[in-house]
Amino acid sequence: MPEVALIYNAGMNPKAHEPASLPVPEPIALAQSEALAATLRAELAAAGGWLPFDRYMERALYAPGLGYYSGGARKFGLFADDGSDFVTAPEMSPLFSATLARAVAEALEKSGTRKLMEFGAGTGRLAAGVMLALEALNVSFDSWDIVDLSGELRERQRETIAKLAPHLAERVRWLDALPETFEGVVIGNEVLDAMPVRLFARKDAVWHERGVAVNDAGAFVFSDRPAHSGEANWAQSEPGNVLAQIEGSEDYVAETHEAALAFTCTVCTMLTRGAAFFIDYGFPAGEYYHPQRVQGTLMCHYRHRAHGDPFLYPGLQDITAHVEFSGIAQAGVETGADLLGYTSQARFLMNAGITEVLGEIDPGDVVRFMPAANAVQKLVSEAEMGELFKVIAFSRGIDSTLAAFSRGDRSHTL
Ligand SMILES: C[S@@+](CC[C@H](N)C(=O)[O-])C[C@H]1O[C@@H](n2cnc3c(N)ncnc32)[C@H](O)[C@@H]1O
Repeated sequence: MPEVALIYNAGMNPKAHEPASLPVPEPIALAQSEALAATLRAELAAAGGWLPFDRYMERALYAPGLGYYSGGARKFGLFADDGSDFVTAPEMSPLFSATLARAVAEALEKSGTRKLMEFGAGTGRLAAGVMLALEALNVSFDSWDIVDLSGELRERQRETIAKLAPHLAERVRWLDALPETFEGVVIGNEVLDAMPVRLFARKDAVWHERGVAVNDAGAFVFSDRPAHSGEANWAQSEPGNVLAQIEGSEDYVAETHEAALAFTCTVCTMLTRGAAFFIDYGFPAGEYYHPQRVQGTLMCHYRHRAHGDPFLYPGLQDITAHVEFSGIAQAGVETGADLLGYTSQARFLMNAGITEVLGEIDPGDVVRFMPAANAVQKLVSEAEMGELFKVIAFSRGIDSTLAAFSRGDRSHTL
């Protein structure tokens, strides 16, 4: 099996790769990681020796200049040899963006809007790919706004778009703050999973919040404290409410997703007309907080290996958790937005016409056709990305469903 497959199989087996077997970073990268660790140790000391996990994760991913997304790590790519850590669908094949563009085109048309906004634009490939496909479909649009917590990626996005879609580059803008309102189509691929999560551990039938401390050797370690300490109205709070629904009394680790919920609320409030599509790996609450999923879904990616140690090389590896889509749906709908649809990535791409997009490539052109056909297989196969990844969409001012959700919509499972 190619190494790239690990990124999306990872959640199934958190201990797939123990840290000891992972490649050691270059000295310059290690120095950056140590600089981040030093700031975290100082923050921990100032906080009395304990930080909630979401704070650690936020720093490890987004600390200016030092975090994984805000520092110099290469991040996205096809192979460990190129220094990357994982591959995402738009990196794997342009067919993903070309097919997503068909759903985007329908949403633009049905809402009568002409603007696009992308959160967490990665290398810029999805932006370039969707814009080119919209142009090929004769769909007019005015602008493509990018919002990313990572300033470091901005330059990479600019270069990619200038290379792949130079004549469309002038429509792309990078926003430093969100507008109060937005009419158009919002896209976020693998953004929700990159938001910090809180961790909770049930031990001997008592819930603890799992945070971070430093041991005598100066290493970061998990540290648990009773979950309700210091938290007013625990039973009504987001984690209190969620954890109370997890059946059984055996030891159990779970994440809660306050940052992703707040983000969804912000985006759906901002969206006054149009649609917002979020594509990511995850499950509805019943499956997510299943009594048998006792280890939670926290996962790290380093050089195309998945493992479960978030304290390895802070700032040099991705830390992620699966998305809990029932909570996301509720957060969006509570703003007054409509739930436009929720389905598997396979169903979404098939409905939106990925086989027709593939059919535009001449099968006789083996050099182009074979990799494209392989990529389609990865994107839709149940054993690869097709079932683990889902698409959820919210809308305002769209009266009917989209073709991409016309068959196999699973909104009722949320
Ligand atoms: C796993 S990457 C996905 C990149 C790209 N969409 C792709 O599919 O290749 C997650 C991206 O989300 C961005 N991100 C996380 N939280 C964000 C937020 N609140 N607003 C904007 N971008 C965010 C990160 O900076 C990072 O670029």
